[in-house]
Amino acid sequence: MGSRRIGLLTAGGDCPGLNALIRAVVLAAAPRRWDVLGIEDATNGLVDLEYHRPLGNHWLTFDDVEDILARGGTILGTSNKSDPFHYVVQRDGHRVEVDVSDRMMENYRALGLEGIIWVGGDGSMRIAQRMGEKGMHIVGVPKTIDLDLGGTDYSFGFHTAVETITSAVDRLQDTAESHDRVMIVEVMGRDAGFLALHGALAGGAHICLIPELPYRIEPVLAKIRERCNDGLPYSIAIVAEGAAPAGGAPSYAGPPVPGEMPKLLGAGARLGTELEPHLDLDTRVTVLGHVQRGGSPNQFDRILATRFGVAAVEAIERGDFGRMVSLRTPDIVMVPISEAIAKPRRVEPSSSLLHAARSVGVELGE
Ligand code: F6P
Repeated sequence: MGSRRIGLLTAGGDCPGLNALIRAVVLAAAPRRWDVLGIEDATNGLVDLEYHRPLGNHWLTFDDVEDILARGGTILGTSNKSDPFHYVVQRDGHRVEVDVSDRMMENYRALGLEGIIWVGGDGSMRIAQRMGEKGMHIVGVPKTIDLDLGGTDYSFGFHTAVETITSAVDRLQDTAESHDRVMIVEVMGRDAGFLALHGALAGGAHICLIPELPYRIEPVLAKIRERCNDGLPYSIAIVAEGAAPAGGAPSYAGPPVPGEMPKLLGAGARLGTELEPHLDLDTRVTVLGHVQRGGSPNQFDRILATRFGVAAVEAIERGDFGRMVSLRTPDIVMVPISEAIAKPRRVEPSSSLLHAARSVGVELGE
């Protein structure tokens, strides 16, 4: 047995770089002679110690992390519906929510863990904060492709997702130009438009609609017509999944399911339906969906995940709990988890990102 036992879990939607982080934690813990328990499927492995996905909870070895630096996903598994305060169980044929946070606390103590490295986005950090208030020693690590968690300049996974969007837009430019079409690309971004805006700037899109700016259809049509008049009868529009017209609601895939995040789908199709009757051009819609969450992390995300993993181990060593590792370029610093979740992170109206988009003629539907 090592000199200390710590836990590591990945929670929320997966993203490129999680495995790079797991590797860094195991490699940085090894010279300290610590044992690192890989907790399966977010908090599920801590709620139920017998919980069994492919591997079950297990002490991570060099062999586990030997070849995972470049692999997407997470070898620990994850879940975005594993809130111990609202744990969904079947009772008498019905789905009901129960609070299993005390059981999770007991298991944490029974395992003799000195702390947990808790990797997650906004929702997961809110749960981590509440478990911290119950006495669990937590070091948070930010992870979100939407970039909707505060307290850090970037989390890993975001830049790889932007690369995926950019390469899709590059391809769609080719076919849009060949066929004289309006190509609509729906990207992730439930409440925050960072992915859409970065994708629009990197891919040279002509229109970009984000959740923070309810759109009007007239300026979007005007932009497409202006391009036609300039001899450019094709356009690319990037639409965040959470974008909605002024006075309208976002597009959902179906009715809400208890214990699950509502599924967003259809913002791109809706824009196509709104545009087509007013245009002589065909429109086509591409939904990038979960393609954006997978794939090998790019070099930025590998390096950031590695730096975060090392910093998280060092924070446990110092007993620096209730805080989250964070990038304040160029440094890695610690911020209270409470501060990171205090205010949802959104594209601010005054942001230089929006300024740059407007300045190069990206139509935001305002
Ligand atoms: O939170 C990240 C995110 O990728 C959102 O942009 C998206 O709405 C959601 O996850 C999709 O989650 P799921 O994997 O449950 O479909």
